[in-house]
Amino acid sequence: MLAKKTILISGANRGLGWETSRVLAERGWNVLLGTREAQLHGQSVKEFEVNGNATWIHLDVSASESIQSAAQWLDQQVGKLDCLINNAGIYPDAGRTITTIPRQQMAQTFNTNTFGALELTQACLNLLKRSKAPKVINVSSAMGQLEGMSPAFPSYSLSKLAMNGLTLMLSSELASAGIAVNSVSPGWVRTDMGGPNADRSIEDGAKGIIWLADEASHDLTGKFFRDGKELCW
Ligand SMILES: NC(=O)c1ccc[n+]([C@@H]2O[C@H](COP(=O)([O-])OP(=O)(O)OC[C@H]3O[C@@H](n4cnc5c(N)ncnc54)[C@H](OP(=O)(O)O)[C@@H]3O)[C@@H](O)[C@H]2O)c1
Repeated sequence: MLAKKTILISGANRGLGWETSRVLAERGWNVLLGTREAQLHGQSVKEFEVNGNATWIHLDVSASESIQSAAQWLDQQVGKLDCLINNAGIYPDAGRTITTIPRQQMAQTFNTNTFGALELTQACLNLLKRSKAPKVINVSSAMGQLEGMSPAFPSYSLSKLAMNGLTLMLSSELASAGIAVNSVSPGWVRTDMGGPNADRSIEDGAKGIIWLADEASHDLTGKFFRDGKELCW
């Protein structure tokens, strides 16, 4: 029997992180749901654990202590990661533009969306190196594309642009360790973040993330995808 592949997904309690976790658990992955809350999509952690191949782990990507203690727990209890999805994100720019956004708000968004993804990746490197075909997936956005820069969403756009920069740097640095690193855009999705007018369902938005984790060739690295097709930076 093949050993189960193990994946850690940040921000897994709702939205795209939840849907990705649910589908991968159904497909037989051992899913570690990294969340700030012990409530998952309205279910208690215990209910989800008995339903699937999943374990809840406390993870606040804006706090170094939380990242480090999650990585320590994973090292002791799980021992290896086949995939890390940096999905947790915030979108706090309502009512601001690039000319009015306070420095503090820029810092807060970067702290979660960009620095959180970087520190979590750094903390998981030894675990990933124990996999035969490890992957890191950064859930980015079309607003992080150079052609998608929006002055109406300044901290969010710039944090995802920088996240794409992380993808390029990490893919280059980690190629010799065999770790594939890619960015993915889910499109505009009807989650709490995307709102009710978005043009995609959560299921459709998650498909491209799930593809990258579960179906895409491990040879693909240093790229940006939506729905399995390459995007320009
Ligand atoms: N929806 C869209 O249209 C869209 C488009 C492009 C890209 N994306 C990206 O897709 C990803 C998921 O977004 P979503 O649409 O599913 O948003 P969502 O429904 O608002 O969910 C965001 C998730 O991130 C978690 N999170 C936020 N800050 C965190 C922190 N410090 N530590 C741990 N978890 C944290 C939230 O947890 P709490 O419940 O604890 O807050 C929640 O689970 C994000 O990176 C987002 O930028 C979304």
